[in-house]
Amino acid sequence: MTTNLSDGFENIADSTVYGLFMSPVGRYTNKQHEEHKTIILEYIQSLSEVKNEPRPFISRGITQMGPDNVLEVPQLAPIKEMIIDAVTKTNASAFQYNLPEIVIADSYLELADKQSMYAPHEHSNVIYSGTYFINFDITKHALLKFRRNTASPHYPIFQLTHTAQNAFNQLDCEVPYNEGDVIIHPPNLQHGYEQNLNPNRISLSFNIAPF
Ligand SMILES: [Fe+2]
Repeated sequence: MTTNLSDGFENIADSTVYGLFMSPVGRYTNKQHEEHKTIILEYIQSLSEVKNEPRPFISRGITQMGPDNVLEVPQLAPIKEMIIDAVTKTNASAFQYNLPEIVIADSYLELADKQSMYAPHEHSNVIYSGTYFINFDITKHALLKFRRNTASPHYPIFQLTHTAQNAFNQLDCEVPYNEGDVIIHPPNLQHGYEQNLNPNRISLSFNIAPF
């Protein structure tokens, strides 16, 4: 057998770009979603009072169903257990914090109406943030988006015209998901959604405490 070896160096790449410091975003599919959705919808129907516009500085058209830290409601115990499993599995492939137990710092069940929105925001003093999509249709409801933080404490950042969009210059992006999925991400990764065009987008957001 003859092997043809090139005697020229012109085809050898002389430029390489490495991507550093990736952000982990976990997607966990809840296999018991239908059962859990029924529990949550029954819980919502049993509520006599709800809170309208609970976070007016960053959102519009939102109704909070139930109290702060709603996952402490005994009726929602199976959902809390599922969220803990989702965080445990995501952590195992993400930051790999050595956590003796998963502690939920706060959790909110939210109903987003037609024309609702959530401005890009972050959470502090927690180690993971996440959202469980309970009633969600990707063709009708606003998608959760993540936004690059372009601020720098030391040097200015330039936004010039790009010749193409890629992982290094895009300003916002999303991960694929459907109803029944839990998306888990670093709390300081800016997140939110643009105008939601249809009613009844129901989700449960939560934050995980460091201890
Ligand atoms: Fe959030």
